[in-house]
Amino acid sequence: MQKEIQTSLASLNLKSIRYFESIGSTNDEALAWAAQGTEDLSLVLADEQTSGRGRAGRKWASPRGDSISLSLILRPRAGEADSPSLFTGLAALALVDALKQRRLTAQIKWPNDVLLNQKKCAGILVESVWSGDALDAVVIGVGVNVLAGSVPHESELLFPATSLESELGHAPNRSDLLRDVLSALLKWRPLMNQQPFIQAWEAALAFKGQMVRVWRDNETPLEGIVMGLAPDGNLRLLSNDKIVTVHFGEIHLRPAL
Ligand code: ATP
Ligand code: BTN
Repeated sequence: MQKEIQTSLASLNLKSIRYFESIGSTNDEALAWAAQGTEDLSLVLADEQTSGRGRAGRKWASPRGDSISLSLILRPRAGEADSPSLFTGLAALALVDALKQRRLTAQIKWPNDVLLNQKKCAGILVESVWSGDALDAVVIGVGVNVLAGSVPHESELLFPATSLESELGHAPNRSDLLRDVLSALLKWRPLMNQQPFIQAWEAALAFKGQMVRVWRDNETPLEGIVMGLAPDGNLRLLSNDKIVTVHFGEIHLRPAL
């Protein structure tokens, strides 16, 4: 697998790659590596995570051989540090593009999940390394359910999940998919602060024009119709005849029943 990955990624000009057959969490490894000063475009990959993390410490399952688990380290360039939330959109859009190349129409469940047929097939966890007030590095963690074996039992899920294998009817090649996700991410990166990026992200939003419920842990949910995105990636809802901006963060979103 490792050789195949190296060949696949050769054209992307990544700075350095650390590959693990098994690791706790690629994000933990990437955060430590970033703190030690590794360069922009360093990548951590693993064939299995034993303590993969979602938001707020929730578990993310990535059993051996079945998924993609990557953490890409970026050193923010001019203008990129102003809206760190855009990095989550960057990864989500890259996933949507890579899946489109496989004739799969994916949608982004704002803020950090990618859906196929209303079921989660990928999750994104962006974490930051700060140096005082300055954003020193961003770790973009991405987990993709490639084979059917990557999908946890429904008793462990807060939202329905699926895999690319289940949706396609066959298993896509993981190294090729990894290359296409990273390639799309690098393609979009210089556009992150520009309108075409937000437009493409918005075009892929799940539940657009539909009533949803959003809430932070331990807070009362807000109901509204998904209108689109603000230029910084915040969500715009129409709630009680007013446009309300929902700020990026540990937000849960569900279609309102
Ligand atoms: P919400 O859907 O309310 O926004 P979430 O359920 O997506 O939040 P996250 O922290 O974003 O919460 O994701 C972690 C959750 O994802 C876990 O609690 C579990 O329910 C689910 N999960 C874990 N592993 C997988 C996987 N491989 N595929 C799909 N879902 C998973
Ligand atoms: C979520 O839906 O909450 C996000 C899940 C993010 C999972 C990826 S897998 C690679 C990286 N390492 C981790 O521990 N988490 C992210």
